[in-house]
Amino acid sequence: MNILVTGGAGFIGSHVVRRLVNSYPNYHVFNLDTLTYAGNLENLKDIESSRNYTFIKGNICDTDFINALFIKYQFQGVVHLAAESHVDRSITGPLAFVKTNVLGTVNLLSAAKSIWEKDFRGKRFYHISTDEVYGSLGNTGLFSETTAYNPSSPYSASKASSDHFVRAYGETYGLPYLISNCSNNYGPNQFPEKLIPLFLNNIIIKQPLPVYGDGNYTRDWLYVLDHARAIDLIFHNGKNTETYNIGGFNEWKNIDLVKLLCKQMDQKLGRPAGESEKLITYVKDRPGHDLRYAIDASKIKKELGWEPSVTFEEGLAKTIDWYLTNGPWLNSVTSGKYQEYYEKQYK
Ligand code: NAD
Ligand code: TYD
Repeated sequence: MNILVTGGAGFIGSHVVRRLVNSYPNYHVFNLDTLTYAGNLENLKDIESSRNYTFIKGNICDTDFINALFIKYQFQGVVHLAAESHVDRSITGPLAFVKTNVLGTVNLLSAAKSIWEKDFRGKRFYHISTDEVYGSLGNTGLFSETTAYNPSSPYSASKASSDHFVRAYGETYGLPYLISNCSNNYGPNQFPEKLIPLFLNNIIIKQPLPVYGDGNYTRDWLYVLDHARAIDLIFHNGKNTETYNIGGFNEWKNIDLVKLLCKQMDQKLGRPAGESEKLITYVKDRPGHDLRYAIDASKIKKELGWEPSVTFEEGLAKTIDWYLTNGPWLNSVTSGKYQEYYEKQYK
């Protein structure tokens, strides 16, 4: 059975690809990725020569190429993760988000529809989305699968649009689909533009830690391997046309999380207590900054038996260890273009 994973060289995608390749020897996993700044084949070194794995470099926005790929490999299932994924980049350059997240998704849906429409049985198009489509919560409440969409950033608007297209292909053409909306992930291999890896890197190199606004924004953090396990479960056991919210039951105010990172890093690096906290610098807020995200993940728990297996303490410790022992990975992704991005975003 040929399975297409898109965006498999990125952060979450690489953990999903590894899990599928190692757990399902009867599948052939095709990883389609155009290798943007966020895609990195180093993330998959350990499985790159597996018998049931093939990497294909290509862009989901290229209609002819995508159609030809589906015809050639007759994929039975698609796990779609490829996206532009960083809110700050979407604020400075929204068009790339419309192209990849909206047009790219529609290209994949159309190609799947063309080869599957004679017989949709046994096929599934699984679209990986985010809790950010729901917009912002106030100080209380949780996002459920029926919360109305209310995206605030160009990133979340593009993901919301892609979710709508997936459902529209289901309603209009009968395409079998699944969607999951997950909270903030953290863990090994995350590109250091997102809060946790960016701050870990800055602590290592003793650079300021740029906290947006007053730091009283709240996110619900999930260890990436728990997300990959949820994706595996939904892909195999989720009900056609259903949506599943995935979350960590783990809300943190940014400033509290940053102080915890500082404390743990001081311990690991043998620095005096309180040293890294001195790097905290409050900077101009992100425009349209969502106050709070928090997921009600009771549906996936009840229907599929999933819940996070890694506590935040364990997950953070594993993440910090990974970044401290993977200096060459961190150095290679923070050289060159990254410096330009950093200058533009923070200086
Ligand atoms: P990422 O930015 O680390 O990786 C995205 C991958 O997609 C990269 O490998 C990139 O090269 C590839 N890609 C980008 N544009 C492409 C294109 N046009 N054609 C082919 N490949 C392309 O992202 P991530 O954090 O791993 O997120 C993966 C998915 O999960 C995204 O759809 C994102 O919206 C969703 N998500 C992420 C989080 C999170 O906290 N990171 C939370 C919930 C949902
Ligand atoms: P981020 O990791 O970009 O994820 P998202 O915006 O998708 O939730 O940001 C997490 C939180 O951290 C968010 O409230 C913005 C904040 N943040 C900072 O305060 N400083 C930073 O440099 C970054 C990247 C994020």
